[in-house]
Amino acid sequence: MKFNPKKTILLSVYIIVGLWTTYTFFKASKTDEVVFSIGAGTKEISIVKSLIEEFEVRNPAIKVKLNVLPAPTDQQHHFYLTTLGAKTREIDVMRIDTIWFAEFASAGWLASLEGCVNPEDRASFIPVTEKTDVFRGHLYAIPWDANIGLLYYRKDLLEKYNLDTPHTWNDLVKACLKISSPEHVYGYLWQGKQYEGLVCNFIEFIGSNDGGIIDDTGRIIVNSEQNKVALGFMHDLIWEYRVSPQNTHSELMEESSRHLFQQGKGLFLRNWTYVWELCQEDPLMKGKVGVSLLPKFPDGNPASVYGGWHLAINACSKNKKQAWRLIEFLTSPEAQKELAMHLSWAPTRHALYNDPELIQKLPFLPIVELALKDVQIRPNLPYYQWVSDILQKHINKVLSNQTSSDVALRTMNAKLEGVKSEFSEN
Ligand code: GLC
Repeated sequence: MKFNPKKTILLSVYIIVGLWTTYTFFKASKTDEVVFSIGAGTKEISIVKSLIEEFEVRNPAIKVKLNVLPAPTDQQHHFYLTTLGAKTREIDVMRIDTIWFAEFASAGWLASLEGCVNPEDRASFIPVTEKTDVFRGHLYAIPWDANIGLLYYRKDLLEKYNLDTPHTWNDLVKACLKISSPEHVYGYLWQGKQYEGLVCNFIEFIGSNDGGIIDDTGRIIVNSEQNKVALGFMHDLIWEYRVSPQNTHSELMEESSRHLFQQGKGLFLRNWTYVWELCQEDPLMKGKVGVSLLPKFPDGNPASVYGGWHLAINACSKNKKQAWRLIEFLTSPEAQKELAMHLSWAPTRHALYNDPELIQKLPFLPIVELALKDVQIRPNLPYYQWVSDILQKHINKVLSNQTSSDVALRTMNAKLEGVKSEFSEN
């Protein structure tokens, strides 16, 4: 064969162009995987999945893999203790509960997000963010769902008996005593089982009587007269007035109490914002449910616990840049609006509280906005879990008639002092 320099050069050019095209094609189609770990209910997961699909369309080079955990916060917490504690690289983004924040940040498990958010964007979030997502001056998480405790009530039944929405606990008990028997419904459903939900309810009861657990200076103030009245009242709702079911202390969590209410078996329910949408979708409840602030004691103010959920990045993640892209998208006003419209999650951006379409869909949004101004934050401590375990155990003992409020509060105070000094020494 005769050597033809022109042809050879042309062939080489074709080969080089061909190789380059193949290389760039594979380079462009190479995807980075971001693992997003989230514990939530079935409907919540399905809405999050649809948001993720949208994210992937907009970011074709990033693929998101969901790691779905059980909904109860305590079970998720165990998962993170073992995985993050073992410095896993298998998780990139996590949805974390407010109460784990200080523990995870102090352990060095969260990547700092300083520098990811500009000051203007940071200021567009509700102010509670600066208390719940900042540890030792560094931002480590972005608030995603501004959950708070609310009072759900059967509007139709209160109207039938010509009663107003209760402002005080006494009003609530009176309404229960009047309506429960003739209507064959439980009076007040709330979360009394020994778990984190009970701590939230306790803080709301004591907060509405001007009581507390730890003050701003770090002093333990659980053994107080205000708390004694409030804890005694929690007990009496079950055993004295008998307006709450007897299994409140052994069975009632968020979902078990919601199911009873949604089946038409309760007059009042204390629960989080997600319950609203589920009631609207239910033909049995649609149009019958109202929402208000929780009642208060005569000398106190209504108190709601902040149950916010936040997005954070695992400090050991290999894909921090991509992980941040996902957080940025999921916490954008647009994504938050979707979550509010479909799941009645309370937005964490100020501006959405003035969105007319959202206010129409979630008529209680102004109540959430009001409650958020003075919301009860559970102690933001690296050893919160120890605090919670003590509270859960002793409050539950009162509810199950194993001890008195007096003894329980004294014991809690002493045990909290012990935990505090143990952790301050270390
Ligand atoms: C909700 C709250 C969370 C709280 C939990 C208790 O999920 O959002 O903050 O710890 O309930 O059960």
